Amino acid sequence: MMDIDLKNENAQSFSEKLNIADKKELSAIIQNFFVEAPREKQDTLMNFANELREKYYERKVYFRALLEFSNYCKNDCYYCGLQRSNRKVNRYRLSAEEILACCKEGYSLGFRTFVLQSGEDSYYTDALLCRLVAQIKESYPDCAVTLSVGERSYSSYQQLYAAGADRYLLRHETADEVHYRKLHPSELSLQKRQECLYNLKEIGFQVGAGFMVDSPFQTYETLAADLIFLRELQPHMIGIGPFIPHADTRFAGYYKPTSHRTLVMLSLVRSMLPKVLLPATTALGSVDEKGREKGLRVGANVVMPNLSPVAHRLDYSLYDNKVSMGWEAAEYLPDLSRHLKTIGFIPDFSRGDYVDLQKKDETL
Ligand code: 5AD
Repeated sequence: MMDIDLKNENAQSFSEKLNIADKKELSAIIQNFFVEAPREKQDTLMNFANELREKYYERKVYFRALLEFSNYCKNDCYYCGLQRSNRKVNRYRLSAEEILACCKEGYSLGFRTFVLQSGEDSYYTDALLCRLVAQIKESYPDCAVTLSVGERSYSSYQQLYAAGADRYLLRHETADEVHYRKLHPSELSLQKRQECLYNLKEIGFQVGAGFMVDSPFQTYETLAADLIFLRELQPHMIGIGPFIPHADTRFAGYYKPTSHRTLVMLSLVRSMLPKVLLPATTALGSVDEKGREKGLRVGANVVMPNLSPVAHRLDYSLYDNKVSMGWEAAEYLPDLSRHLKTIGFIPDFSRGDYVDLQKKDETL
């Protein structure tokens, strides 16, 4: 069994070990940090994660403006508040004009990445989305556009990339087949999802995968499978947040979420894939007032304030008590930026690409 006594490790050697550990060893490492490891050891892990983040990104924090432009979804994922069978959701869709108006506001606030996220909504055809992406890129050629609109065909992804989209977020949710089946209806498949991620990468997108921590039926083994999948995919971005039960789903009241295990997974992921862009997610900020700050301290380096029109923010309810005001809100960017400085981070208003893809002049 792999030795995980961190006293005899440095950040680099720990990173190397995580990259060759097998599933059993990874499960044991995760279990150890979740339930047994003394404070001191937890701190060592978090310090390793920090050190590795600083090696590639210094203490920079990148900002992304998150635009939740439609909460219609044709899928019925059991954990998600926006699942199609939830009749209580007040569904909305933003028009291209409304989305462009948001981008305008975001640009003037200082954002240089727009993340366009929605449920899987067939209303937004390839033609419509491509036009929208092209318009945004034309108005703001110095900005990156990230799409997060679910599973689509290879050709659709190709067209979106050709239209100018730079990045794509599609969490794999869980890399364990049995676990995947417990969270999704039969028409969805893990294989298809993973295929989408590989397609996106092949086409040239900077790709984000990711998963929830403490989702129903998750085990140390399924989390180990997540790490192994991420190690194989080598995504540029990884979204990790706590699972938070939604009252109108079958998992209502399933669990009272906390931030600790998400923080452990963030530090393990940062240690295993040191160059990855890692957001301190809204979900993390929703379960712990200081969650986002804690996330940044354990290796996260991205925040995604909400730029959606205030009138619709509460309708994008993936889970209960989702925060969308205060520091989660794009309008508070100057406040957030100031606060990040006081706790030792460097707010960075560049596009914030994956380190190997950053243009020289951007880092000067
Ligand atoms: N708790 C936390 N995260 C959730 N998501 C969906 N439902 C929940 C929930 N109940 C996450 C999924 C999805 C992303 C948009 O939100 O991982 O990919």
